[in-house]
Amino acid sequence: MAEDFKVTPWEVSGDIDYDLLMERFGTTPIDEALLKRLSGYGEIHPMLRRGIFYTHRDMIRLLDEYDKGNKFFLYTGRGPSGQTHLGHLMPWIFNKWIQDVFGVPMLFQMTDDEKFLFKDLTLVDTKSLAYQNALDFVALGFDPEKTKIILDTENISALYPIALKVAKKVTFSTAKAVFGFDNSTNIGSIFFTTVQAAPAFLPSEQQGRQVPCLIPCGIDQDPHFRVARDAAPGLGYPKPSMLYCKMFPGLGGGDKMSSSDENATIYTTDGAKDVKKKVGRAFTGGRVSVEEQKKCGGNPEVCAVFKYNYYLFEKDDGKINDLADKCRRGEILCGECKAALTDKINVFLEDHQQKREKAKDIVDGMTFDGFKWVK
Ligand code: TRP
Repeated sequence: MAEDFKVTPWEVSGDIDYDLLMERFGTTPIDEALLKRLSGYGEIHPMLRRGIFYTHRDMIRLLDEYDKGNKFFLYTGRGPSGQTHLGHLMPWIFNKWIQDVFGVPMLFQMTDDEKFLFKDLTLVDTKSLAYQNALDFVALGFDPEKTKIILDTENISALYPIALKVAKKVTFSTAKAVFGFDNSTNIGSIFFTTVQAAPAFLPSEQQGRQVPCLIPCGIDQDPHFRVARDAAPGLGYPKPSMLYCKMFPGLGGGDKMSSSDENATIYTTDGAKDVKKKVGRAFTGGRVSVEEQKKCGGNPEVCAVFKYNYYLFEKDDGKINDLADKCRRGEILCGECKAALTDKINVFLEDHQQKREKAKDIVDGMTFDGFKWVK
């Protein structure tokens, strides 16, 4: 059944129909007109061109303000529940592009509190995972002068007054309806959405004026920001604008890369052999035999290897179309495709891992209010 999928901030399952999801959430498609307008600021990112970032809220208003000289700031985040994988990097890479193109500051929230509340992890676990994840974020090259990392349990005094104001505007019945909470939900989880809302309003609170905010992230986070946007006008804050992407696919053919399936997940710290093994086992759109594949062709639409090229690893549109055509005509076999992707991922990771090492010297200086990491 096409509707048999689930997308919430804490669970993504089933075969996601992204158009239907956009309809359910009530977000606006990124259409040709918006793409054209965005291309006026800098060469359009492949993730926009390819419909990976595909839907938004209030981008027009944000750009109108920007054109008038009212700059926005970027906000995105990470719930530190495990090591960073490629799926986490995808929206961050996009955020870095926005920072470069618009020259704007960035607030990165690490919700160690959230992962303590929602997962079987201690506060020490989530705090040290936050450090590991922060290295990957910093390694992507965010401007250290313009980027601050918030760690919830450390920076709560800046967030708490805003979270309280939001909390006063959100009823238990809204929280239940939006997030599916019930009587067995711990009460920290019910409050948590206000903490995720807070960074969106932090510059407005600090500067005493309405500072526009843009949040590029996975569409699974929309429930939080629906609540935040509804609360904003009553508190004198501007509603944050949103740019949403699809989930980065799993190697096993699923719609989302998930740490719960380690063999179908490529971590940023994986070595070349791990990558080779994992890609080697990936789900493809190939046929049962070489003969049949040469005769009938493969199906790139369902192929995890093709999706990896499409989402991250082949930026050249001509080459990606060529790859799809060749596959459909049976002119390229899965083994070749897997070997080529393995090489691309390993080249990327080798470079990333060097930058991740260098990030260790930078990340201390990027903390909001100068807190100390648990390393
Ligand atoms: N809840 C997010 C997660 O589990 C983390 C997060 C906090 C976030 N603030 C955000 C994600 C803003 C996107 C945008 O990963």
